[in-house]
Amino acid sequence: MKSGKKILLGITGSIAAYRALDIARLLVQDGHDVQIVATSRALKFFPRINGEVFTGHPVLSDLFESPGGVRHIGLADESDLLLVAPASADFIGRMAMGLADDLLTTLCLAIRSSVILAPAMEEMMYLHPAVQAHLKTLTDRGVREIPPDRGALASGKEGLGRLASPERIRDEVRELLRISQEWSGVRVLISAGPTRESIDPVRYIGNRSSGRMGYALVEAALSRGAKVTLVSGPVDIPTPPGADVFQVETAGEMESALEKQFPGHDLCIMAAAVADYRMEKPLNGKRKKDGKSWTLTLSENPDILAGLSRSKKEGQFLVGFAAETRGLDTNDLARKARRKGVDLLLANDVSEPGIGFGSESNDLTLVLPDGQSLHLGRDSKRRLADRILAEIRKRWTGFPSLPT
Ligand code: CTP
Repeated sequence: MKSGKKILLGITGSIAAYRALDIARLLVQDGHDVQIVATSRALKFFPRINGEVFTGHPVLSDLFESPGGVRHIGLADESDLLLVAPASADFIGRMAMGLADDLLTTLCLAIRSSVILAPAMEEMMYLHPAVQAHLKTLTDRGVREIPPDRGALASGKEGLGRLASPERIRDEVRELLRISQEWSGVRVLISAGPTRESIDPVRYIGNRSSGRMGYALVEAALSRGAKVTLVSGPVDIPTPPGADVFQVETAGEMESALEKQFPGHDLCIMAAAVADYRMEKPLNGKRKKDGKSWTLTLSENPDILAGLSRSKKEGQFLVGFAAETRGLDTNDLARKARRKGVDLLLANDVSEPGIGFGSESNDLTLVLPDGQSLHLGRDSKRRLADRILAEIRKRWTGFPSLPT
C-alpha cells in the first residue's frame, strides 16, 4: 500500500552509512516514496546501487547533476519529511551553520517540512561541546534528534554514539508523519509581537515583546502541515515562509485583523502582547520640550481575546497567554482563563531576567479554566511551541478531522 508520502533520506559520511539501507527498506515497506540524497563522503561507505534498487530512484548527490534545474527547491517542496541518518559530526556542524555546499545541505535550507537527525559517531565526538552546541542550535530550530544508542562503535570501543536502530528511526518517522497528517489543513490563526500606540508622530507606547514565542508557534504549526495565518505587530525577526501574514501596528488594527480572520480558522493562539492603553488623543505634531513635566492621558484598549471568545463557534479552540510579574497563582490564572473565555492559558513570569520577553527561551505553565495546570518547564521557544501544540491537541475535543 502506498502512503503517498515522500521522504528524503539524507546519508552523510559515517561508517554507519551502510545501515541506511535497512532504514530505506523499512520506510519503503511502510509504503513511502523514498529518495536518497547522499553527501560525497557518504558514497565512500554507502552502496549506491543497492540504494537505487531498494528505493527505485537514482541516489542523488550532486547539486548540479541536472543542468539548468534547481533540483533542491523541487525536492524540498515535494517532500513530507527529511531524515538524515546517519548524521556525521561534520554534517551537523555544517547544517547548524547554514552552509550549503552540496545537495543535502542546500536541501536543509530549502525545506519547510519536518527534519529528523540520527547522529552516529564516536562517543567523545558526540559528547564534544562543539557537537552538542550544534545539536542544540538545530533542535532549538525545531529539528528532531534521535539520539544515538550505546553499543559497539567503529573504533571497537563500547560507548554512546551508535546509530539508533532502523526500527527506532522508522517509529519516529511514523510518529512525525502521523502528527503532520493530523494537522494537515487545520487552520491556525496566531497573533504575535507587541502593539504600538502613537503618542505623537515620533513617539509611541510599546512593550518588550520580541514576537519570538508567536513566531515559534507559526513555525511549529507550519511544520505540522497546518495552514497558518499570522497577525503580527512590529518585530525585528523574519517571517517564516509559508504563512499568510498581516502586519499591524496598533491594538485597534490587531483587533480588526483578528476579528476578520477568526471565523475562517479552527484554532487561534493569542501570543501578542497587546498594549492595554492608548493615548486618548494622539498629538498631530511632535511635542517640543518646554521645561515642564508632561502628563499623558491614556484610555483602555479593548480586550481582543475576550472579544474573540464571544464570537467563538463550536469546534473552535482559543488559547491565550498571560504575562505576569508577581509569580504565577494557578487560581488567579484559571480565573483569568474563564474571564477571557479561553480554552487554555499559557502563563509566564516576565519579571525574571533573561527569560520570556525578548529572550530565545521561556518558562511556561499551562492552565485550564477548571484550575488544572501543567508546568511545561523552561526550554527554547521553538521546542515549547511543539509541546504547546501537542498539549492543545490532547485537550481539543472538537479537533477537526479532515479528509486526507
Ligand atoms: N490581550 C488581548 N487584548 C488586550 C490585552 C491582552 O487580547 N487588550 C490578550 C493577550 O494577547 C494574552 C491575554 O490577553 O493572550 C492575556 O494578556 P495579559 O496581558 O496577561 O492580560 P490582561 O488582560 O492585560 O490582564 P492583566 O489585568 O493581568 O494585565
